[in-house]
Amino acid sequence: MATKKATKKSATKKVVAKKTAAVKASARAVQEPKPTAERKVSVSYEREAFTDVATLRANARKNVDKGAVTDSYGADRKLVIELLNEALATEWVCVLRYMRHYFTASGMLADAVKAEFLEHAKQEQAHADKIAERIVQLGGEPDLNPATLTERSHAEYKEGANLKDMVKENLIAERIAIDSYREMINYIGDRDTTTKRMLMAILAQEEEHADEFADLLNGWIGS
Ligand SMILES: [Fe+2]
Ligand SMILES: [Fe+2]
Repeated sequence: MATKKATKKSATKKVVAKKTAAVKASARAVQEPKPTAERKVSVSYEREAFTDVATLRANARKNVDKGAVTDSYGADRKLVIELLNEALATEWVCVLRYMRHYFTASGMLADAVKAEFLEHAKQEQAHADKIAERIVQLGGEPDLNPATLTERSHAEYKEGANLKDMVKENLIAERIAIDSYREMINYIGDRDTTTKRMLMAILAQEEEHADEFADLLNGWIGS
């Protein structure tokens, strides 16, 4: 009787072990698909799209004086620097216009609006700094010559006759900046993703600025 029981137990153990092995094998099959001929081809094709380490190292050493600009830079570097310098001039003219409005604004709503002018001036200044930094990274020189700033800027330096006029002039300047940044982003595309990302972040803030002034003008009471 005892022997019969032992034999049955060992048979059950064997069945369980067999089943477990089968389950493990099928799980492994899901995790590690057999490399088919098709898969092998696609993996090696994708691998070939990357530059090999030796070439990467040699290229990096070749033009070390170019700093962050490597042979794989896809845009027209001179044109990008030219466009960025126009944007830089625009930002500086905007800083100066906002500061002029901040110091001269008067009237019932002046305090609230002045705070907006000052905040925008600081943000335009931050945009200018980012743009100047990128120009240098691309091997160019930021043009900050005050003698030619207004003629190189897209937006104008308008003093504004009164508070409402100042808000309107700033809205117009923001709308100019929005259009010119959008054009630059569309031109640069994916050929210089660092510049593109920077311009996209600036554009988003210019849209916020324009939106704030549009709201202010919509709810304006009085002249
Ligand atoms: Fe700006
Ligand atoms: Fe702005």
